[in-house]
Amino acid sequence: MNLLRVGVLISGRGSNLQAILDAIASGDLAARVVVVVSNRADAAGIDRARQAGVAVVVADRAEFPHRLERQAHIAGTLEACGAQLVALAGFDEILGVPILERFAGRILNIHPSLLPAFGGGMHAVRDALAYGVKVSGCSVHFVTAEVDQGPIVLQAAVPVQDDDDDVSLAARILEHEHRLLPQAIQLFAEGRLAVDGRRVRILPAGCIPSANR
Ligand code: GRF
Repeated sequence: MNLLRVGVLISGRGSNLQAILDAIASGDLAARVVVVVSNRADAAGIDRARQAGVAVVVADRAEFPHRLERQAHIAGTLEACGAQLVALAGFDEILGVPILERFAGRILNIHPSLLPAFGGGMHAVRDALAYGVKVSGCSVHFVTAEVDQGPIVLQAAVPVQDDDDDVSLAARILEHEHRLLPQAIQLFAEGRLAVDGRRVRILPAGCIPSANR
């Protein structure tokens, strides 16, 4: 079987990377992580990748101080590994041209809010709580040049409880992130994501138009 080749970009804890690796191990996701790239040498996710026997490349600020040069290196790494899809799993950089152009329409991100609310920042859970929303959640979306504004693939809603703080709310949202990101990758692998402007329709299984094959 030709498994979808996925490159995963991380910056920290790597729990979403772990969710992808676990979904592959359990057979829920028919894909292969061909490389994990971290822009931080001390990211905990690096160990998760190594434990799973996945190649790791560190492209950090020490080696590549300039963001676009760093991302050009990352794009080259992804291409060299034959990545067909790029999954941003807690990657804390805004993507620039080097990656966006080479992987247009093939980059997914997980964001801890119901986009378009609380997009564009690093503290979406805290900001949603501070705003006083009653429902938050997470979104998987295609990545475009406009930060957190690409077409939305999947979302999950998480009710906010009166006694929530950003730690408790983030933890409940994270459970849904861990389900949604592997699910979105599986749908992409099956060619079932039909992007029509801002809308992403999920095609029924086994009914794939030739353009998506
Ligand atoms: C997640 O909340 C994700 O939505 C956000 O960054 C966090 C990464 O967590 N983009 P992890 O590194 O996957 O554990």
